[in-house]
Amino acid sequence: MRVAGRIAVVTGASSGIGRATAARLAAEGATVVAVARREPQLQALVEELHGRSLAAEYIVADVADREAVASASAKVLAEHGRVDVLVNNAGIGLHRAFADCSLDEIERCMQVNFMGAVYWMKAVLPAMTRTGSGSIVNVASAAGAMPYTWEAVYSASKAALIALSEATAPELARKGIHVAWVNPGLVRTEIFTEESLRHLPAIARRSWLTPERLAAGILDVIEHERPGASIPRTLGVTSLVRHVTPPLFRLGLRRVYESSLRRD
Ligand SMILES: NC(=O)c1ccc[n+]([C@@H]2O[C@H](COP(=O)([O-])OP(=O)(O)OC[C@H]3O[C@@H](n4cnc5c(N)ncnc54)[C@H](OP(=O)(O)O)[C@@H]3O)[C@@H](O)[C@H]2O)c1
Repeated sequence: MRVAGRIAVVTGASSGIGRATAARLAAEGATVVAVARREPQLQALVEELHGRSLAAEYIVADVADREAVASASAKVLAEHGRVDVLVNNAGIGLHRAFADCSLDEIERCMQVNFMGAVYWMKAVLPAMTRTGSGSIVNVASAAGAMPYTWEAVYSASKAALIALSEATAPELARKGIHVAWVNPGLVRTEIFTEESLRHLPAIARRSWLTPERLAAGILDVIEHERPGASIPRTLGVTSLVRHVTPPLFRLGLRRVYESSLRRD
């Protein structure tokens, strides 16, 4: 789907990958609705885009709040009559050993990273079904395909998002709706804490991507209706190891974990 002239909702657009994606979709001619909780950042983005004569607006909403998503989506539909593109990008990290995560933290991570996307998908599906078209991109993570130590719950939330995307794709294709996942590698954004940076293997810390690279990848997935994309592509190959030879994957993960413990 070409994005020019389309209505595109991007969640988590106040910083990082979401901000870059909102800016890229607007630059390609879409009317962007930027969603997040921090109003000053959303306002700054929209002003910047208006300054470039691009179409953008924002809605403050917590994606983990079912009522907030219902009213945000109702607002977009009342104003524009349709949603053509939905990029479920809002997400939070939970960087801690599983035994040290509280149940509240675990629930919050699943609620934002997984249920936030579910709420938005459910909210826009009736309108997309009516128009017989639409594109939904769920920003998951390489950690969803290759679970990572210190990130058990985050990895699980992203694995759930990938599964949701894959399983709904054939169901929704019959209605003319494209569904995809995007698994980013490491992008230097506000999601990283000092602690999470310390636990990253040295090789990973040398391979940062820019949010703009991800925005270009997400645009490519929408325009070419790709089923999904690992960015960079090599991550897709690495995740194969887990399925082809589980013992080797487990050994590698354990080595990475032990060496991060030594750095601690
Ligand atoms: N950076 C990476 O290396 C990396 C790798 C793989 C996957 N990802 C995924 O990429 C996505 C974007 O992350 P990022 O790296 O760009 O991090 P980021 O800069 O921290 O952006 C996260 C965005 O999500 C929003 N958000 C968080 N909780 C929210 C909530 N409850 N309701 C609405 N919006 C919420 C934040 O806005 P507010 O705080 O204003 O609400 C922010 O705009 C996330 O899903 C992340 O898991 C990132």
